[in-house]
Amino acid sequence: MGDSIISYSSDKKGIVTSKSTVDDLSPDIISLRPDKFKDYIGQKDTVETLKIAIQAAKMRNEPLEHILLHGPPGLGKTTVSHIIANEMEKNLTVTSGPTLEKGGDLIGILTNLGEGDILFIDEIHRIPKIVEEFLYPAMEDYAIDFVFDKGIHARSHRYRLKQFVLIGATTRVGLLSSPLRDRFGIFRTLDFYTPEELIVIVKRSAAILNTIITDDGAKELAERSRGTPRIANRLLKRVRDYSLVKSHGKVTLESVKAALSLEGIDHLGLTTLDRNYLKTIIDFYKGGPVGIEAIAATLQEETDTLVDVVEPFLLKIGLVLRTSSGRKTSEKAFNHLKLYP
Ligand SMILES: Nc1ncnc2c1ncn2[C@@H]1O[C@H](COP(=O)(O)OP(=O)(O)O)[C@@H](O)[C@H]1O
Ligand SMILES: [Mg+2]
Repeated sequence: MGDSIISYSSDKKGIVTSKSTVDDLSPDIISLRPDKFKDYIGQKDTVETLKIAIQAAKMRNEPLEHILLHGPPGLGKTTVSHIIANEMEKNLTVTSGPTLEKGGDLIGILTNLGEGDILFIDEIHRIPKIVEEFLYPAMEDYAIDFVFDKGIHARSHRYRLKQFVLIGATTRVGLLSSPLRDRFGIFRTLDFYTPEELIVIVKRSAAILNTIITDDGAKELAERSRGTPRIANRLLKRVRDYSLVKSHGKVTLESVKAALSLEGIDHLGLTTLDRNYLKTIIDFYKGGPVGIEAIAATLQEETDTLVDVVEPFLLKIGLVLRTSSGRKTSEKAFNHLKLYP
């Protein structure tokens, strides 16, 4: 398995994590990340489904079914998997699709899992095909098939694994092969959060950070967070710094507005990149329809960034439309850019 995973010791249970998700584990973020369903705001149906599955698995004394979580970055996929491991009282091993380069990387991890342990694979759509093939029997029969030699001398040996639970997270479920997708018993898509839900998250985070925030300050921040808890928490930290330096530390409506305008965040929560994306379609392609590759080339941005990070929210609030011939901006986008040229 080489250096594709590193160890991380948590307070309660062992967590093994890959380098690519080490960001998720910086002390700051850990403290804001809920570790119980009680503190996990929103996503009601998903939480209910998971709670029932967890309770049923416990009653039957069986492992959970494999779970696939889909949704844009920052909506709580990693957080849910931590909570599930906590609730099942099992170890969690964290890795990600791109770090599993060879079959051996995955086998090393699988053979180390204990009964009922949870394996979290982030960005599971980026797992290489040769590694994915080891996952099929592992998920279905809790086994790995080793093949020795080739041709008529080929022999295979089946190695039994403990009954583990795979949780896969992906921003692009469409890129998952159907044999892989079909092996998950539970599939949930996380949606953007409402401003009301984000207000609760912002207030909870402010309390953890020992920061006083007014109701109208929390509301403004929530409304400008692109429906995303990770962004809400990040902006809260910027606003908190601003309020400390420029006023008396208390986060108010005024300090939120001033700090976020410094960050280039407009009243809809759009960033400079969001606005440049819209501008590109309007100015260069007469509002579309235009292919994503053309937009990416004009903007000199990665297509993946636009598809995974920029577009989902713009689609959600109706500034962009996806048609069979490409992306189009709406009149609402046009009006919005007149306000924020
Ligand atoms: N439902 C939630 N309630 C409260 N905070 C949340 C929730 N979902 C996510 N967060 C916060 O947002 C951050 C990002 O969530 P994360 O699970 O890392 O997103 P993803 O894995 O989907 O990219 C977490 O560290 C946590 O602080
Ligand atoms: Mg994550």
